[in-house]
Amino acid sequence: MSLIDEIDFGTPEARSKASVTLTIDGRKVTVPQGTSIMRAAKSAGATIPKLCATDSLNAFGSCRLCLVEIEGRAGTPASCTTPVMDGMVVATQTPKLAKLRKGVMELYISDHPLECLTCAANGDCELQDMAGAVGLRDVRYGQDGASHLVAEKDTSNPYFTYDASKCIVCSRCVRACEEQQGTFALTIAGRGFGSRVAPGPSPTFMGSECVSCGACVQACPTATLTETKVIEIGQPERSVVTTCAYCGVGCAFKAEMRGEELVRMVPWKDGKANRGHSCVKGRFAWGYAQHKERILNPMIRASINDPWKEVSWDEAIAHTASEFKRIQGKYGQDSVGGITSSRCTNEETYLVQKLVRAAFGNNNVDTCARVCHSPTGYGLKTTFGTSAGTQDFDSVEDSDVILVMGANPTDAHPVFASRMKKRLRAGARLIVIDPRRIDLVRSAHVKADHHLPLKPGANVAMLTALAHVIVTEGLVDEAYVRERCDMDAFTHWAEFVARETNSPEAMEAVTGVPASDVRQAARLYATGGRAAIYYGLGVTEHSQGSTTVMAIANLAMATGNIGRPGVGVNPLRGQNNVQGACDMGSFPHELSGYRHVSDAAARGLFESAWGVTLDNEPGLRIPNMLDAAVAGQFKGLYIQGEDILQSDPNTRHVAAGLSAMECVVVQDLFLNETANYAHVFLPGSTFLEKDGTFTNAERRIQRVRKVMSPKNGLADWEITQALSNALGFPMAYDHPSQIMDEIARLTPSFSGVSYERLDELGSVQWPCNDAAPEGTPVMHIERFVRGEGRFIITEYVPTDEKVGPRFPLLLTTGRILSQYNVGAQTRRTDNSAWHEEDLLEIHPHDAEERGVRDGDWVKLASRSGETALRAKLTDRVAPGVVYTTFHHPDTQANVVTTDYSDWATNCPEYKVTAVQVSRGNGPGDWQLEYADQARRARRIEAAE
Ligand code: SF4
Ligand code: SF4
Ligand code: SF4
Ligand code: FES
Repeated sequence: MSLIDEIDFGTPEARSKASVTLTIDGRKVTVPQGTSIMRAAKSAGATIPKLCATDSLNAFGSCRLCLVEIEGRAGTPASCTTPVMDGMVVATQTPKLAKLRKGVMELYISDHPLECLTCAANGDCELQDMAGAVGLRDVRYGQDGASHLVAEKDTSNPYFTYDASKCIVCSRCVRACEEQQGTFALTIAGRGFGSRVAPGPSPTFMGSECVSCGACVQACPTATLTETKVIEIGQPERSVVTTCAYCGVGCAFKAEMRGEELVRMVPWKDGKANRGHSCVKGRFAWGYAQHKERILNPMIRASINDPWKEVSWDEAIAHTASEFKRIQGKYGQDSVGGITSSRCTNEETYLVQKLVRAAFGNNNVDTCARVCHSPTGYGLKTTFGTSAGTQDFDSVEDSDVILVMGANPTDAHPVFASRMKKRLRAGARLIVIDPRRIDLVRSAHVKADHHLPLKPGANVAMLTALAHVIVTEGLVDEAYVRERCDMDAFTHWAEFVARETNSPEAMEAVTGVPASDVRQAARLYATGGRAAIYYGLGVTEHSQGSTTVMAIANLAMATGNIGRPGVGVNPLRGQNNVQGACDMGSFPHELSGYRHVSDAAARGLFESAWGVTLDNEPGLRIPNMLDAAVAGQFKGLYIQGEDILQSDPNTRHVAAGLSAMECVVVQDLFLNETANYAHVFLPGSTFLEKDGTFTNAERRIQRVRKVMSPKNGLADWEITQALSNALGFPMAYDHPSQIMDEIARLTPSFSGVSYERLDELGSVQWPCNDAAPEGTPVMHIERFVRGEGRFIITEYVPTDEKVGPRFPLLLTTGRILSQYNVGAQTRRTDNSAWHEEDLLEIHPHDAEERGVRDGDWVKLASRSGETALRAKLTDRVAPGVVYTTFHHPDTQANVVTTDYSDWATNCPEYKVTAVQVSRGNGPGDWQLEYADQARRARRIEAAE
């Protein structure tokens, strides 16, 4: 296997449908209008030397190496900046051009260290290649004149080095940061000979606005910007295309290897979700896979107070199976269950739910989507007929208005945020509905037209007020509604939202947002052209999460914004495979493809394929499992790849539930917080060590490919299979592709999916079946999946969680770019350089009232519990609102979140907790106690 070499066409593809024919070096070539001569030449097989051009960036025309001659035209224009014209006759290789190019290269090389043999980029350097391509043999000017050869290196960023002595000032890095990433962190400082790349006003990359996305490193044609790992390990020798295992954007990467060592992750240009871009997590934060704390041997213990004992795989599996059999024998068939993981592959997730339904013989299976996007499933299925987003990511390029609600894409979905910002810089209008002033509200060259900073918990009131304006001001797309939607339901809904009690003015006291702002935003959404809604957990994690999703769907249907590019309702999924985990039948009431367990026909398919009788009643959800455990009825739990102690609400209740069980099995990479309450630990494998598929937020199914052997000996699907066999329900897959074949046989929306199809097309978006063999980028084009779109009345019901004199502030939670979820992976990488601890954001006014200064320890208390963390004073949050992240177990923000949850799905109300903040002296007693208990729970006795 060798390195995957991607063709660089020099300039981006032209999107024109009109074509132009010209002659290049005697060959006729036809290309889309607007194509550069450089790109046209490359597609005709002629390579023109270049340095400042690359096809991920707009042409710049600074290096003067790509000169060509054009018949009938004077001079030697740059081929990267000159568009093709019909009938043009171009010569790319002439004696005159050769001489000019050599001269240009001589100038570059006269100011470049001649240390190719020891340079980290040796063999992967465009300057070196171009010196060869133009036939450079000597440099007439020597290297004695003024130069930059002794310029200092900037090694402040843990992941890449900036060696200014090798910079040719081609500006590719600056343009990558602007055009691809949209951060505008870099600039060319100085003039003429003194020009140099600078990270803004800061002397170092780490001190600058840089978010370490790696786009500049990728774009740099020399060794100036180089990955630290390439410097340490050397150039990679082979690469494998795979999918990022962090967030729901689903970026495709080339994992570049040297031997068994991963050298770097390079974003893949053909990846349809990321189009060659990346963020700091997928690009750089993979060191956890080799982290010394990773557990590689199975372990068991009789009680959670005992030290762990390392055992063989056979012993661990046999012990687990016998414990589950014992528990079911003693407490009944329903006394055990399983939790699938949104971090694991579709195949692994499918296998866990199969294990629970077929081998445990009940439907007690649930997934972490319970605590994030279960309301999306319920809300979109009810209104549109299917539990998924409606668009592909490319769709944002056709949007005229973008409404972002309860999502913070620049931190949580960074690569998609960059695409969104590009569209915004090109003129799309922006509405942000969020209690916090997220980056999108105002960042480099992006400014929201409307920011509606509503009070946490007021989502439904806000959306109904927006709908009120649309209905009462005659902004409904009546033709669309008449043709596509259930008219009775629409009429009832329109009558409901038109009530004066739902007007922005009447709702102002609830939302806290001036009615005139709400009215203007509604008018923009309804009349601004193609309007798309993107939303996140700020929508779903509420007691009215499902209602909010349906209110969003109502808005989109009323304005005709469903069923074509540029519009739609798009849940931004948090984890890499949360969409897939839901698709695969991880919920207690649904088989794969969202078919209810009470549906006899669907159940029958599985019963005959698996040779068992399945329960037709939904099983327990995660919160019910914990309640049942506390009540003494639920005793055994198999948890694959989840840390429910840290990620689920009301930590004390989770701990009580886990403590009441007799066999908790945790399958994970590290001894996570939940493992402190486990009796069996089965070491998991990373995405680099196994084959499978992930499904991203746009329903895109992509391959995960094994690049190294599992360090723990088994891939996660093999562990589940072994457990099932030990329990007496045979599974005999040789490869995950066979699991996918079974999924395709049993799931209509996946019937066309196979590893062959994925290898052939790169990826597909479900539904993928006979009707759509290449997948479905945009859904509901001619009709809704459920037939007619269904409007649902969305009455605002305030949450029971109320502020009062004891708890006068509202806490809301979220993520930060550099850390990921419970931080199990990112905390074990250099990403902690950006976010070492969770901080409490508090408005200066609220801080002053409490005598709290920036950086002080504060106590954060709610009705559920209290924790301590440091304060960060900022006006990003409004007075009365505080905000924190939940990446660090020492803080455990979920100690304070409550048991309230979405009425339809039990999704916890993470986003609204009434709290009090007071000055503190450092970590609280429980935190110290907890740390001590965790230390005890992690003792390991090695195998004899
Ligand atoms: S790493 Fe990304 S954000 Fe940082 S300077 Fe480079 S392109 Fe800009
Ligand atoms: S750092 Fe690299 S990409 Fe940036 S100007 Fe210098 S050589 Fe070009
Ligand atoms: S945006 Fe998400 S999928 Fe893409 S590299 Fe970052 S974490 Fe990975
Ligand atoms: S590649 Fe065309 S001017 Fe540099």
